[in-house]
Amino acid sequence: MPAMRVVVLVSGGGTNLQSLLDAGRSGALGPAAIVGVISSRPGVRALDRAVAAGVSARVLDHRAFADRAAFDAALKSEVQSLGADLVVLAGFMRVLTEGFLFGFEDRVINIHPSLLPAFPGVRAPAQALQHGVKISGCTVHFVDAGVDTGAIIAQAAVPVLDGDTEETLQARILVEEHRLLPAVVASLAAGGFRREGRRVHRVP
Ligand code: GAR
Repeated sequence: MPAMRVVVLVSGGGTNLQSLLDAGRSGALGPAAIVGVISSRPGVRALDRAVAAGVSARVLDHRAFADRAAFDAALKSEVQSLGADLVVLAGFMRVLTEGFLFGFEDRVINIHPSLLPAFPGVRAPAQALQHGVKISGCTVHFVDAGVDTGAIIAQAAVPVLDGDTEETLQARILVEEHRLLPAVVASLAAGGFRREGRRVHRVP
C-alpha cells in the first residue's frame, strides 16, 4: 500500500502524466504512487499512456453531464473510489467547483504553463508572446475554485526567445513542467510543503 495514492486527471496528450509515470517507475516519486487516471475526454493519448503503464484508466466525458456540478459530483466519486490522497491536474482542461474541492483542501494540485499570476486560463504561452514578456515558465499550485488562482507551490522559469512561436515556447516550458511536477509530487508525499494562507513554505 503506497503512502500517498495519486490520481491524475487529464484531457489530452498526457506528457505530464508520462513524466509522473516514469518518475513512479524509477522510484523518484518516493512513497507516492499513481493509482488511477481519469480523462474528461475519450480517445486521448493520455489514456494510452496509463494503459501502457498498467494503471487504471477511466473516461468521464464531461459532455455527458447536464452541468459542471453533475460532472464534478461523478468525478469526485470516481476519485474517492480510487482512494486518492492527492489529485493532480495534468493538462486537465476543466475548472473544478467548490463541490469537488470540499473535503480535498490542499490535496488537489495543477500544473500551468506560465509564471502565475500572469496568464491564467487557456493558451498561456500565446498570451505570454502577445504581452512580449522575456521570461515565462510553469507553475504548480494548489487548486481552488478560481481559474489558476490557488496558492503557488513551485515555479520554473524559461527565457522567451526572439522568433519564438507558441509551439516553440510551449515546448521549452513543457521540458520544465516534466521536471517540476514529479518533484513537487515527491515533495508533497514526503511532507515537504506547508501552506499558510496564500504562501507555501518548504519544510526543512
Ligand atoms: C501542459 O502544458 C499543461 O501545463 C497545460 O496543458 C498542457 C498539457 O500537456 N495545462 C493548462 O494549460 C491548464 N490551464 P500534456 O497533456 O502533454 O501534459
